[in-house]
Amino acid sequence: MKISIIGGTGYVGLITGLGLAVHGHDVICMDGDSSKLNKLNNGELPIFEESLHELLKEATDRNKVVFTNNIKTAVRESDIIMIAVGTPESKNGETDMSQLILALKLVAGYINNYKTIVIKSTIPVGTCAMARMIIKDNLKNPMIPFDVVSNPEFLREGNAVSDFLNPDRIVVGVDTPESEVVMKELYRTFDAPMVFTDTRSSEMVKYACNAYLATRISFINEISEISEKVNADIHAILQGMKLDKRIGSHYLNPGPGFGGPCLAKDLKSLICFAGKANAGLPLLKAVLERNGLQIKNIIDYVMSELKDIGSKKIAVLGLSFKAGTNDTRNSPAIHLLEKIADTKTSIHVYDPVVKNLEEPLHSRVTFSTNIMDTIMDADCLIVMTEWPEFKELNLEMVYMMMKTPLIIDTRNIFSPNKAYHLGFSYKGIGITNPIFDSIDVSLKNII
Ligand code: UGA
Repeated sequence: MKISIIGGTGYVGLITGLGLAVHGHDVICMDGDSSKLNKLNNGELPIFEESLHELLKEATDRNKVVFTNNIKTAVRESDIIMIAVGTPESKNGETDMSQLILALKLVAGYINNYKTIVIKSTIPVGTCAMARMIIKDNLKNPMIPFDVVSNPEFLREGNAVSDFLNPDRIVVGVDTPESEVVMKELYRTFDAPMVFTDTRSSEMVKYACNAYLATRISFINEISEISEKVNADIHAILQGMKLDKRIGSHYLNPGPGFGGPCLAKDLKSLICFAGKANAGLPLLKAVLERNGLQIKNIIDYVMSELKDIGSKKIAVLGLSFKAGTNDTRNSPAIHLLEKIADTKTSIHVYDPVVKNLEEPLHSRVTFSTNIMDTIMDADCLIVMTEWPEFKELNLEMVYMMMKTPLIIDTRNIFSPNKAYHLGFSYKGIGITNPIFDSIDVSLKNII
């Protein structure tokens, strides 16, 4: 089939376009960003993502993808037009629909025969219905038929290529039998169950999934906090929980809170449009609130341990919102740095792929080229992401290099016993303090 992706050099657009191209479709990745188009036309990637180079090479070697800024050709030469433009968070937490609305108007102006318009961008429930009106109002010839389809994406940064090529399921919201036939043909070669529903339910699936994943993370972070206070161990608790098939093992890693451009943004958007529909969503509001507590608790701990923070050196490992990506949007590490930037403390940072931050933070911190320089003479080491090279750190060497042996391991990547044994003051998330005697006497009596 002939497919155009509007927003085809962005994260979702590019992976979708290349993924469909290697499945044999003829794809036009259309975008207004000429620097990204130039890169792609030279075989370079505008984003950092595992396995994406291989996908780009395969799609271009097979002549299955074209990168262009020509929206007219993109629309006219395609059966399916997928819209994958950004739908970022606006100041009040609602979804900013300006890019989507502009894309719909432009596409509508070039529609010359029946088209299926597929919305990939994450959009509030009811947007496909609105998109139909926008397209209808902007068609040059009002008699030309078209359909609008919802087809949410479930790609995780760092795993997006594999998630696209081996999806757990493909969710499609259609309002006509014709568009259902088109979408079945589009994904015919994928080995995954397809869930067909109406456009509103399909739009909601995306929010329900991200809200559920966020809820699991906030839940386990809350259990971790209470576990620390009553000297229970989150590793053991998780072992006991995960073997219950009803609970399973995913999205239960405690940490510094969920970050990135999606989970929090989608929760806020859901809370906003639910509010307009008179649904208060107290649980999901609490999930967001709980998430904010993670960084606050870490900072409180740093402050209480370091006492005179102004005269200290803090080493921070990991800047992206999780391992496997260079994306620092809504990264817990950045939130932490912003909070300690106001103090006089000396902050040294290292990340395997992030080498720049936005100002004023960039000038406030010292970037090290390797882990050991970051740690040298530090009074505190804070691990913010779970990159493999952090997990492989030689703790004996770290102990010798640090001025004060204090580790705050927000991803629980080190063995607490080993750290204690070496003489570190070690704090994980939900990790038992082996010095049980330090526990409050009244609590001990209850236990
Ligand atoms: C998320 C969803 O997982 C995707 O399905 C969805 O398509 C995407 O948002 C989106 O809406 O576009 P992503 O944000 O890339 O994907 O990353 P995740 O792997 O879900 O991680 C989100 C955050 O949760 C990260 O900060 C991660 O460190 C944190 N996390 C994840 C935990 O703290 N604990 C866990 O057990 C899992």
